[in-house]
Amino acid sequence: MIYHQVVVVGGGLAGLRAAIQAVETQLDVAVISRVHPVRSHSVAAQGGINAALGNAPEGADDSPEKHAFDTIKGSDYLADQDAVEIMTREAPERVIEMEHWGCPFSRTDEGRIAQRPFGGAGYPRTCYASDKTGHALLHTVYQQCLKQDVKVYEEWSVVRLVIEDGECLGVIALNLVTGELEAFQAEAVIFGTGGAGRVYNNSSNNIINTGSGMAIAYKAGIPLKDLEFVQFHPTTLATNNVLVTEGARGEGGYLVNNKGERFMKRYAPNAMELGPRDIVARSIQTEINEGRGFEGRYVHLDLRHLGRERILERLPAIRDIAISFAGVDPISEPIPVQPGQHYFMGGIDCNSDGETRATGFFAAGECACVSVHGANRLGGNSLLETIVFGKRAGDKAAAYVKGKEKTRAGGKALAAALRETEAEIDQLLGADGEENPADLRDEMRRVMFEKVGLFREEKQMKEALEKIRELKDRAKRIRISYKGRRYNLDLACSLELEGMLLMAEVICCGAIERKESRGSHYRVDYRERDDENWLKHTLAYYTPDGPRLDFKEVTITKYEPQARRY
Ligand code: FUM
Repeated sequence: MIYHQVVVVGGGLAGLRAAIQAVETQLDVAVISRVHPVRSHSVAAQGGINAALGNAPEGADDSPEKHAFDTIKGSDYLADQDAVEIMTREAPERVIEMEHWGCPFSRTDEGRIAQRPFGGAGYPRTCYASDKTGHALLHTVYQQCLKQDVKVYEEWSVVRLVIEDGECLGVIALNLVTGELEAFQAEAVIFGTGGAGRVYNNSSNNIINTGSGMAIAYKAGIPLKDLEFVQFHPTTLATNNVLVTEGARGEGGYLVNNKGERFMKRYAPNAMELGPRDIVARSIQTEINEGRGFEGRYVHLDLRHLGRERILERLPAIRDIAISFAGVDPISEPIPVQPGQHYFMGGIDCNSDGETRATGFFAAGECACVSVHGANRLGGNSLLETIVFGKRAGDKAAAYVKGKEKTRAGGKALAAALRETEAEIDQLLGADGEENPADLRDEMRRVMFEKVGLFREEKQMKEALEKIRELKDRAKRIRISYKGRRYNLDLACSLELEGMLLMAEVICCGAIERKESRGSHYRVDYRERDDENWLKHTLAYYTPDGPRLDFKEVTITKYEPQARRY
């Protein structure tokens, strides 16, 4: 059995930021990561991170309060306002800390961190490193982890969270290289395991974003909150759904239909292309559905008027992506874009210190739901969430460990969990049924995108739920063709499949139950927001027969819900 005082699961921004915080208090901290940390999905974030620094000339009047208001309005009033206020208040300090750690932000002429406009924001508030901001931030925190000697277990996949009598004891993890299982005993466990984007087709997410952390926590008895709120980014590349940053519209890009119209004037006449993501994504899809798209699949993102110099300086990765994967050079041609799954607003229910229902178990980043994004996240707020709440979870976990009287508890329970998991894996490896796990996964993704996507309706969602339950049943009869233990990706895929189907089931159940439209959850059979009945969070508790749903109040401080107009 391996022992560390704090085990962080996930090598992305939230996990590494939490690890730095815990290690700075002289604790023994380890990170377990599915991939090398700098391959975590945070690296793919492009456009920027929000903080009311007021560095752009048009942003001089910006403030954390204005950032909070934009975030809450963007969330369609489902965000917990106290948590949003914490995030926007701490944003400047966290971003400047990144600068001091060496993050290579783009600069204003005066040498300050450069800021660009983003959707749903009243001021240019998004700090950026050209269009590779996630890459710059992730390498910055990874360097801090190296400096602080944080132990990293890379290419390990956590498969079980062990909780006994409400106390977290550690995790069981699979070494993907050797195929061996190991129990990790810890005083505190912090999940920064990312989202579940790959439950959907047409996702901008990395293939590792399977929601495994959320699923493991859910199975261990921790409720998931607001999982029905799934964000579709307005502009992913029409050929393969790689992200085309909102920063392209922040720099002045136009969205154009097959009639040559900047159609956003019909949907968000003031904000135009810089409306919030839920509205812009639905507007694009409406244009496509009503025959004003190209080839019935996409619209154009036109950057040509920005000029070569600006594109090369501010959007070099977007240019590379468009050339490599769509064969178009944005300097001379528009980019074909369509909405694609991008982010989960919901996740593991936790408070603004990352605390969950189990003592010693914390969560931060996309796998967590604090909730600061409510029903629709603003671009640039996810990177911010990772470093604000990653730090806070690291702080709280460290304080918890230091205050603990009894340590190294739960050895017996961990050993038993290890034996059980070993038996499950042996059974899986021996499985010789007729179903291929990858085929089941693909069927799940298709049905989720088609029936629980941008526009939702009762009958279709019920059909999706029925399909997911059929797939759960068929998953009992899978076949794993490669039986070896080393790098058995068939095995990893089968282990993840169970969790992905659980996530899909929770999304369907929450979406069917919520009879209103709010943010990303748009129902054609209930088109209005209904604050009287639905200004509340959904909680899903695991049962073997499907989720048990419950609800929780939204915290309102000073921003009373209003109609959203842009
Ligand atoms: O469009 C983007 O660059 C994505 C940013 C985000 O999801 O926050």
